[in-house]
Amino acid sequence: MSCTQVTTKKYWGAIAFQLLLVGTLLLWGSHPANAVRGGKYFPNVPLINQDGEILHFYDDIIKGKVVSINFMFTSCGDACPLETAKLRQVQDLLGDHVGKNVYMYSITVDPDRDTPAALKAYMKKFKVRPGWQFLTGKKEDIDLIRKKLAMYREDEQELGDHAINFVLGNEATGQWLKRTPFDLPETIVAVLLGRLQTRSLAALPAYSAQTLPAVRTGADLFNTRCVSCHTIGQGDKLGPDLLGVVSKRERAWLVRWLMEPDVMLAEKDPLAIALYNQYNKLPMPNMRLQHQDALDLIEYMQVESKQVKVQAANSP
Ligand code: HEC
Repeated sequence: MSCTQVTTKKYWGAIAFQLLLVGTLLLWGSHPANAVRGGKYFPNVPLINQDGEILHFYDDIIKGKVVSINFMFTSCGDACPLETAKLRQVQDLLGDHVGKNVYMYSITVDPDRDTPAALKAYMKKFKVRPGWQFLTGKKEDIDLIRKKLAMYREDEQELGDHAINFVLGNEATGQWLKRTPFDLPETIVAVLLGRLQTRSLAALPAYSAQTLPAVRTGADLFNTRCVSCHTIGQGDKLGPDLLGVVSKRERAWLVRWLMEPDVMLAEKDPLAIALYNQYNKLPMPNMRLQHQDALDLIEYMQVESKQVKVQAANSP
């Protein structure tokens, strides 16, 4: 999966796939029995965090730790915000475990533009809390790390093509796996605090009851794609509270906004621009929703809004 999804690349598809395959096989070949571990395998290259401190990839970042690592760049308006927002939820659920039992890192694939200051500004925009570090460095060092983590695509033609999965791993045990930004944050947390740990940690916070995906498609879509940034009736998160939004906006505007917010922002749709300015200039990501997805989501937002209003009216 990539940041800007393939649109005109059918032509390159076959070649890209071949290259990817070769890349994967090469990587496999270099994994000692698939258990990726140790300072011999991982480079100890220096990276710089958002505060300008130098951290060495092996010694300071992963050695002996359970980590979550993803690759992003601050000017990516597409899937990176989705991923960062998802990781923010993960950070919230992890609570005090961050920096103790689990270490979170985001590494830029655009180190020329993403200086420590740019990373710091990005963290502020996403309200990232302390303990999750953003890193930049030399392009060739970062590419090397990506190759070692099997997060480098040989067919990348632009920054947006970088892989958007997260790598979760335990350097000490050599277990590494990937999750996507579309996983529920609870799933990611369960891996980080369960499967990857060598000892059992305190019980997870009780979150399952409220966030289990509902049966309806609209609810399911909303829970997996939208809750990182929105609530219905519980106030603003990174994006606006969506209570009553269906009655407030024109249907056609809403459908289009859900399907291609990036295009509407680029076209300077006045309402889109006003919202964008109001919400920290954080662009709502294009999530490649189909027309039917948009309709399901609209129905869900409408039904939920009604329920929230009924509940509010009934409570003293
Ligand atoms: C990465 C965060 C993020 C995600 C994920 C996200 N949004 Fe948004 N959304 C925003 C932001 C920020 C705005 C305000 C406009 C802007 O800045 O582009 C917004 C605006 C909106 C609006 C317009 C609100 C209004 O007052 O008219 C709607 C509707 C909306 N989002 C629905 C959704 C739905 C449905 C999903 C899931 C399919 C979703 N969003 C996913 C960040 C996000």
